[in-house]
Parts: sequence; C-alpha cells; structure tokens
Amino acid sequence: TIPLRIGIAGLGTVGAGVVQLLAENRDLISRRAGRPIEIVAVNARDRAKGRGVDLSPYRWQDDAAAMAQADDIDVVVELIGGADGLAVALARKSLAAGKGFVTANKAMVAHHGAELATAAEKAGAALKYEAAVAGGIPVIKALGGGAAANEIVSLFGILNGTCNYILTEMETKGAPFADVLKDAQALGYAEADPTFDIDGIDAAHKLAILASLAFGTALDFDHVETRGIREIEKVDIERAAALGYRVRLVGEARLIDGRLVQRVHPVLVPLAHPLAKVTGSLNAVVADGNFVGRLTFEGAGAGAGPTASAVVADLIDIARGETAPAFGIPAASLKRVETGDHEDS
Ligand code: HSE
Repeated sequence: TIPLRIGIAGLGTVGAGVVQLLAENRDLISRRAGRPIEIVAVNARDRAKGRGVDLSPYRWQDDAAAMAQADDIDVVVELIGGADGLAVALARKSLAAGKGFVTANKAMVAHHGAELATAAEKAGAALKYEAAVAGGIPVIKALGGGAAANEIVSLFGILNGTCNYILTEMETKGAPFADVLKDAQALGYAEADPTFDIDGIDAAHKLAILASLAFGTALDFDHVETRGIREIEKVDIERAAALGYRVRLVGEARLIDGRLVQRVHPVLVPLAHPLAKVTGSLNAVVADGNFVGRLTFEGAGAGAGPTASAVVADLIDIARGETAPAFGIPAASLKRVETGDHEDS
C-alpha cells in the first residue's frame, strides 16, 4: 500500500501533539486509514527548541513554503496559526500544487476559507479544518456529513476553551481573572495572543466557520457581533450564581428570513441549561436540524491531544480518498446573505 506522506508546518502545542499521536496510534491509524500516514518533513521557527517528541526520523525543512513544492509530500499540515502571513501563503501554494491541506487555523479559515476552498476545488485537492473549530469535537464532520441531509437554521455553543476555563475557575475557586488566564496559557489552551480568546475573536472565527458550513452561506466574520469576557468580574459571577445562573461565553448563529445573525457574547445561562454544565476547557455545539432535531456535541475544545485528534481525523479522511467540498457545497454556491438585525432574534 502507498503511504500518505505529510509535512507538518508548526510544532507548537498542537504540532507536537500530532507527531505524538501519529507515532503512538500508528498501527490503528494505518488500519483505519487503509494505509500508513507517514510524516516526511517537519518545520518550525526554532529548530533547537525542546518539544518533548522525537523529531529525528523526519526531515527538517527550514522553509515551510518548500513543503508545497516537495515531491515527496502529499499533504501539508499547517499548525502555524495567524490569519495571514506564512499560513495563508503556505495554503495557497500547497493547494495550487494539488496537495491536500489540513489546518487547525480558525483565523485563516474564517478570513480566507472561501478563497482556499475554491483553490482546493480547482486543484481537486482536499482542504480540511476539523481542528479549527471546537478542538477535538468532530463537529465539522458532523455538520458536513452526518447531519448533511438536514436544513440547519440555528446553532449555538461554547466555542472557546480558554474563556470557559477562566469562567469556571473564577466561579469555583474565586481566582482572579489574570491568574486563571496564566494557567490557561500554561495548559496550552490559549492563543499565542490571548486577547483573541478573551475578547471573543477566536469564538467569532469559529462561529463564522460553523455558520457557513451549517447554513450554506458565505463566510462573514466581519459581521459577527462580538463581545468577550474581559469585563467580567468575580462579583458578576457571584451575583449570577446567587440568582441560579452561570456566565458563559456563547456564540450563536441563525438564519432568519434569509438574513444571517451571528454573535458572540457573555450570557447568563440558567444552571439547568446544558451549556451551564460545560465546564473547564470543554466546548459544546448545539445545532437544530429539520429532520434530525437537536444535536448536542460536547468535548475538549482546546489542548494538544484533542486538537491533534481532529487533525489526524482529517488526515485519515484524505488517506481514504474523501474529497467533499470544504464547506459542504462548492464554494461558488455559498449564498451571500444580508446581516440580520439581532434585535429581531
Ligand atoms: N485558544 C483556543 C481556545 C484553542 O481556547 O478554545 C482552541 O481553538
């Protein structure tokens, strides 16, 4: 059997997790994929940095972009991050060269997803981004595949592990915001720039991606009404608790009369509500389908293991020859819709 040969660009928390997962579950992955998935080359900014994984079997590629041209690489795995710059240049080059492209980069997909999906379709290459949304929860596969027969008109969820971890720790331990944020960074949950987490931008990236996939609408990150948790204080959480509520950063998207409403904001959630029970760095996504009814997904939304799980699931799909369009339908058919007024919702 012919192996699927991959190059990994970016060896942070997630990159190291992918290397470890592919090594540890090697035989199982190979059986499920129908062929071995082999790392050929790896790349990161700093070669000397210790990462807790053995990189010696793999070619060190100083220039990530060279992976897009390498004859011995079938799929480029981008774990660098950032909406623009190196990541998107690598995506464009890889897809133009007909290579598969797997990414955990929600900022890039939220901003350039349609363009990249078009490039992938043109080249007959796969573009996959399961790890970009809700960490280890296979919600992209669920909405794009398992629930694909349904009209989905609304979805909501907890889409940022760092914020949920901060809110949970503030509530249960009474710890100050800044201390808990430091913990979240140490645990590998937070973005390189954690303002993306706490200001709701990261959740907004994920919401825009989910909305496009679920509703078949064009990506519209710019119209996600976004508020984060920066202003939430201990006293707010205590008062909410006294009244039977919990504070959660919730993302919600709806299609109302052909208008798209998307927002991320802190919400008072009754203790009995499913989202109130989502604690720590967990994420949850709830989607309503017109035949399946309500679907609820919950699981680890951040961290090395769960995110690596999603990356490798995409690689297994590609190894199996799966070639569905990145947003469920051809990128050119994604509907451009007006932004709805959230007051109507
Ligand atoms: N910083 C993100 C989070 C990582 O906390 O959810 C997963 O996308």
